[in-house]
Amino acid sequence: MWPSVRRVSAAVAAAAALFTGVQAISKVSRDGRYLYTDDGSRFYIKGVAYQPQGAVVASSDNAFEEPSTFTDPLANSTACSRDLPYLQQLGVNTVRVYSVNSSLNHDSCMQALSGANIYVIIDLSLPLNGSLDRNSPAWTTSLLDQYIATINAFSSYDNVLAYNVGNEVVIAANSTGTAAFIKAAARDVKAYLQSKSSNALVGYAAIDGTPDWRDPLANYLSCDPSSSNSGSTALDLYGLNNYEWCGDSTYQASYAGTNGDYAGYNIPAYFSEFGCVVSGQSRTFQEVTAIYSSPMTDVWSGGLAFSYFPAESSAGQFGLVTISSDGTSVSTSTDFNNLKSQYGSVSPPNSPSSSTAGSTSYPSCPTQNSTFLASTTLPPTPSDAECSCMNSALSCQFTPSSSNDSATVGALLDYGCSLLGQAGLSCNDIAANGSSGTYGRVSFCAPEIMLSYVMTEYYESQNKNQQACSFGGNGTVHSASESAAAVASSCISNPSATFTPSSPATASGSSHTTGSSGSSHSGTLATVDSRAVFGLGLMVVVSAIGGIATLL
Ligand SMILES: *[C@@H]1O[C@H](CO)[C@@H](O)[C@H](O)[C@H]1NC(C)=O
Ligand SMILES: *[C@@H]1O[C@H](CO)[C@@H](O)[C@H](O)[C@H]1NC(C)=O
Ligand SMILES: *[C@@H]1O[C@H](CO)[C@@H](O)[C@H](O)[C@H]1NC(C)=O
Ligand SMILES: *[C@@H]1O[C@H](CO)[C@@H](O)[C@H](O)[C@H]1NC(C)=O
Ligand SMILES: *[C@@H]1O[C@H](CO)[C@@H](O)[C@H](O)[C@H]1NC(C)=O
Ligand SMILES: *[C@@H]1O[C@H](CO)[C@@H](O)[C@H](O)[C@H]1NC(C)=O
Ligand SMILES: *[C@@H]1O[C@H](CO)[C@@H](O)[C@H](O)[C@H]1NC(C)=O
Ligand SMILES: *[C@@H]1O[C@H](CO)[C@@H](O)[C@H](O)[C@H]1NC(C)=O
Repeated sequence: MWPSVRRVSAAVAAAAALFTGVQAISKVSRDGRYLYTDDGSRFYIKGVAYQPQGAVVASSDNAFEEPSTFTDPLANSTACSRDLPYLQQLGVNTVRVYSVNSSLNHDSCMQALSGANIYVIIDLSLPLNGSLDRNSPAWTTSLLDQYIATINAFSSYDNVLAYNVGNEVVIAANSTGTAAFIKAAARDVKAYLQSKSSNALVGYAAIDGTPDWRDPLANYLSCDPSSSNSGSTALDLYGLNNYEWCGDSTYQASYAGTNGDYAGYNIPAYFSEFGCVVSGQSRTFQEVTAIYSSPMTDVWSGGLAFSYFPAESSAGQFGLVTISSDGTSVSTSTDFNNLKSQYGSVSPPNSPSSSTAGSTSYPSCPTQNSTFLASTTLPPTPSDAECSCMNSALSCQFTPSSSNDSATVGALLDYGCSLLGQAGLSCNDIAANGSSGTYGRVSFCAPEIMLSYVMTEYYESQNKNQQACSFGGNGTVHSASESAAAVASSCISNPSATFTPSSPATASGSSHTTGSSGSSHSGTLATVDSRAVFGLGLMVVVSAIGGIATLL
């Protein structure tokens, strides 16, 4: 079952497969609102979440129990060859992976999964600062470059079904403004994939919630704000993390309302997580029958059970297997056997046919109201070239004293913005607001460059008094002939430009890999009454906006 693994390119592997008569994994594509394999059959995701749980520091700041570390499950051939027979027993055709390390080699695991006809959905986020920050979102060069490095690392594999640009970024009506940044990320990732002739889909995994914001969010992520109907800013694949069916239930008592809400949805949709835990009971996974039969198959293209590996949260223990402490063996649970038998007995309808499904249409976007705040004016495409042009011409530059400068940058942005406020100036150039649709011209640059910009503005406001660039030894004076504002307007000539991004000049995978890890697979129940959440690692921008807020 585990093909002998050599470091061969996917193309060579595919050619070899053809030679020996083994069929290469089929391409999956989207027609209308459904997915199809090459032979025209409807494709249903029958999957499982596949990521060991990272370290979770429980605190009131981390109500969603988001991990701060991760283990890349596709980079260890010993571990994935151990698991492959169990994934095959479960009968899955897809695994979802929440965080990967683009600097590691994934050939062995990806080729083995492909050989077993298993697709992979890859989330591009990393824990902490590697994700869109729901509290103070920004779509920056750092994040875009991280996403591109991951896409580049997986571009040669034939079994990447989709890349998710975010997981549960919006968690309540009051954070729906963040959706503008998700949509911008989808737009830029989509353009990048097209430029690479990749057929991987662009996805997002949404937390469940009340229809007054969950539904407009879904519609917004799949709409076209221009009248071109091109879908250039729309997702290809919408995921809903849905835990509505718990224990002994029925379609009517669990999914019927949600199914009705998405009845007219325009793009393929699936349950990016399912599998509610009822305390003290093993999971029977009866919901599988409902998910893979009509009327749900009119709307949904299957789903993914959470989770292969043990995953503990306040909502329960979600693992289907346990791994021995020496990492060598796998023990399956009753839940595993139940899911296996449920997956083994589904036969979803092979309809409509791809020709009937037609092409995808992109409706206009939902209007803003008190429960849906996102503007259809999206943030621009982050430009490394423009930010570095500006950075090198600024007269007061941040000089980091360590490679892990997140905390310092946050504190200094906060401080710098408060100084600018006292001087009668503002931090508007670095602020981004997805509700008003206003994006400062420097707001897509890396936090360090934003900081140099703020420091320069303050230094200039103090008539270039040397002391005003010190910032406790964090700033260095550079000779510069132009003001910060002049530099910004000459380097960033069109602050609202969108374009097809290219790979960062730095070697992909090497420059953005120092963060912590494991993104936020929640495994929580749909929390409608979610408490305020402040991502621990996202203090950079939080502090920046804190600084801004104190000025208002
Ligand atoms: C996250 O922080 C690390 C350490 O400061 C940095 O190397 C990395 O580029 C940051 N990632 C993003 C996407 O900002
Ligand atoms: C806002 O609009 C959405 C539809 O886009 C609707 O479902 C929701 O109920 C509206 N909210 C309010 C407060 O009217
Ligand atoms: C790979 O996984 C095996 C099995 O869990 C473990 O023993 C080994 O330490 C892992 N290797 C690395 C480099 O993490
Ligand atoms: C970076 O520094 C912050 C705050 O000082 C700390 O919480 C975090 O763990 C550090 N990250 C790394 C990768 O060392
Ligand atoms: C963003 O814009 C909205 C709408 O104009 C406004 O209500 C909100 O206060 C702004 N947020 C920040 C952080 O400035
Ligand atoms: C830089 O700024 C940080 C945060 O304000 C401060 O703790 C530190 O003392 C400053 N100086 C140096 C040299 O890091
Ligand atoms: C990726 O792996 C490299 C090599 O093990 C490591 O140095 C780096 O910290 C990892 N990056 C992330 C984001 O975990
Ligand atoms: C946002 O809404 C959530 C849930 O409705 C609430 O718990 C939280 O306090 C709100 N946050 C802010 C900043 O208003």
